[in-house]
Amino acid sequence: MNKLVFTIITIASAACSGGRSSSGGGMVAAGDGLAAWETVRGVLQHPRCANCHPAGDQPLQGDEGRPHNQNVQRGPAGRGMVGAECTTCHGPANPPASYGAHTPPGVSNGWHMPTPEQPLVFVGVSSGALCAQVKDPAHNGGKDMAALRAHLDDPLVQWGWSPGLGRAPVPTPRAAFLAAWDAWAAAGAPCPAP
Ligand code: HEC
Ligand code: HEC
Repeated sequence: MNKLVFTIITIASAACSGGRSSSGGGMVAAGDGLAAWETVRGVLQHPRCANCHPAGDQPLQGDEGRPHNQNVQRGPAGRGMVGAECTTCHGPANPPASYGAHTPPGVSNGWHMPTPEQPLVFVGVSSGALCAQVKDPAHNGGKDMAALRAHLDDPLVQWGWSPGLGRAPVPTPRAAFLAAWDAWAAAGAPCPAP
């Protein structure tokens, strides 16, 4: 609850600053941009997101981020190893709740993780390093700010708020996450010192 209150205050302060930059034009002040980034960072490093963005080549599971069962590996294209592709177990949607907990979650565009060339690591990196990586096209899969924003509507990202029975969704509401992202971008996507 404290976290939610903090998030709302963060968003509110970012939104309120919309009109008060010295140059006018609705820019968000950099300090508010940093506060908005902190909300974004909290989502990116939540287990529902970070479990597919690990430091090593094994996806993670659960709130504790334990290594994936069955020694599942990233594989050459982020889709698993031959015979143990992600989609062998992860279907096009979450199984119905009647199947119980601990079933493999699914998404319409094919469950997978980033490639070995661009692993997009969210786990174990500082806020400043994560921020720099996320907005750098050389390290984020060639995405500019518009493409990054569009990616936030990808089924893999949306899944974090409907992760299936037995998994806690990302606690920051999705609308608050998107508002924080937009406030961060409008402030020029400032990053904390690495
Ligand atoms: C099932 C695995 C999976 C989950 C879960 C997942 N992602 Fe990703 N993410 C990927 C893949 C794969 C890519 C690379 C782009 C692609 O192939 O679609 C990616 C790329 C990204 C990118 C753009 C690249 C970058 O690092 O700047 C962002 C931002 C992102 N994810 C955010 C999230 C957020 C936020 C969540 C949770 C709400 C999340 N992801 C959950 C697999 C996942
Ligand atoms: C042999 C079947 C199997 C394969 C292959 C498999 N998974 Fe899973 N995966 C599961 C099961 C079952 C769960 C649910 C575990 C649980 O909830 O206890 C799961 C859960 C996950 C989670 C955890 C979600 C969370 O936040 O707790 C992630 C992330 C994940 N898998 C990624 C992958 C990726 C990426 C691949 C391919 C590289 C893959 N899996 C391949 C069976 C599989």
